[in-house]
Amino acid sequence: MAKELVAGPKNNQYKIYIGQNAISKKNLSLLVKKHQKILIISDSGVPGEILKKVHTISKVTSKVFTFTLKQGEQSKSLGNFQKIINFLIEHQFDRSDAIIAVGGGVVGDLSGYVASSYLRGIQFIQIPTTLLAQVDSSVGGKTAINIPAGKNLVGAFYNPKGVIIDTNTLHTLPAKEFNAGLAEVIKYGLIQNTKLLSLLKSNIVNISSRKSQIVEQIIFESLRTKAKIVTQDEKETGIRAILNFGHTFGHAIEAHGKYKNILHGEAVAKGMLIASKISWLEGHISEKEFSKIYSLLEAYNFDLSLHQYKFLDLKPFIFRDKKVQRGNLNLILLQGQSKAFVTNDFKAKNLKLAIS
Ligand SMILES: NC(=O)c1ccc[n+]([C@@H]2O[C@H](COP(=O)([O-])OP(=O)(O)OC[C@H]3O[C@@H](n4cnc5c(N)ncnc54)[C@H](O)[C@@H]3O)[C@@H](O)[C@H]2O)c1
Ligand SMILES: [Zn+2]
Repeated sequence: MAKELVAGPKNNQYKIYIGQNAISKKNLSLLVKKHQKILIISDSGVPGEILKKVHTISKVTSKVFTFTLKQGEQSKSLGNFQKIINFLIEHQFDRSDAIIAVGGGVVGDLSGYVASSYLRGIQFIQIPTTLLAQVDSSVGGKTAINIPAGKNLVGAFYNPKGVIIDTNTLHTLPAKEFNAGLAEVIKYGLIQNTKLLSLLKSNIVNISSRKSQIVEQIIFESLRTKAKIVTQDEKETGIRAILNFGHTFGHAIEAHGKYKNILHGEAVAKGMLIASKISWLEGHISEKEFSKIYSLLEAYNFDLSLHQYKFLDLKPFIFRDKKVQRGNLNLILLQGQSKAFVTNDFKAKNLKLAIS
């Protein structure tokens, strides 16, 4: 059953369509029809069939152009930002035209940032095709590119005009990518969504084998939580920080490994384990609750080994995190099932113990 959600502030709300075959004439032409020109941005790893469908529907009402990036994180660059801007200028896109991002978080983040800055902002539509992009990067309005000094250091908060999540697109996604996306789904269950947490516990086989109905349900529940939090706190001045549960450590693990050999979600799974362990060591959750979290992550086949990391190796990356303010490290911890909170009150020895 197709589902819909609404996100964004009252004066600038956008719809999220979720379902098998959500890339439909009904959903897409509604978003596209007022725009004379459309630029579809994607990358070389996005299956042609998905692009064809978006193209065919859009061209009924609009003149359609395409821009294809090379697949991979390196494409989220200043160079590509410039190239797309040049393309828009060359084809005389004006403020009434629009961009459609079809792909994973790389395509979505770069397209969104281009849309936020071209002519001080043109509209853009997100059609995320990876699980990570469907449950995370396509909703919430964060857009960014990478610069040599670091990932996502240049960007803007800029909401899309609409988001279309077609669960059929996930069939072609490599298993490793699908699994990594599940880490973010588990995150929403652990930080706030009890219903999602029980769905995750009782449908391990069906979720892992990507059964459409349950996949649609967990995407809907994930976005219900994300949309609620980002609508409450658009620019991350408060509650939105809990969406970073496990990420301070996950980012440190990714950066320490120079972003090679480990996907973001795989690192976040380890990071959530560390944050849960600190929550236990600090007395916020019981050892039994900690074991349950461990078992859930294990059931979804995450590699939870930490022995390859030494606390002192990760420490510089942990303290470089965006959650460090005035030298204080803010941690997102759990105080019970589906209850995350932010604190800088913890013992340094527990931080060390949880990693080593
Ligand atoms: N804006 C945000 O709030 C936010 C949140 C989380 C992550 N991100 C960003 O998202 C990016 C990661 O996104 P990602 O994990 O989607 O990676 P990605 O965009 O690199 O996609 C992973 C791979 O899957 C391929 N692919 C895409 N759709 C496919 C499909 N349907 N079938 C087969 N292959 C397909 C892509 O070509 C790519 O090679 C990072 O740059 C990260 O910083 C942003
Ligand atoms: Zn993440």
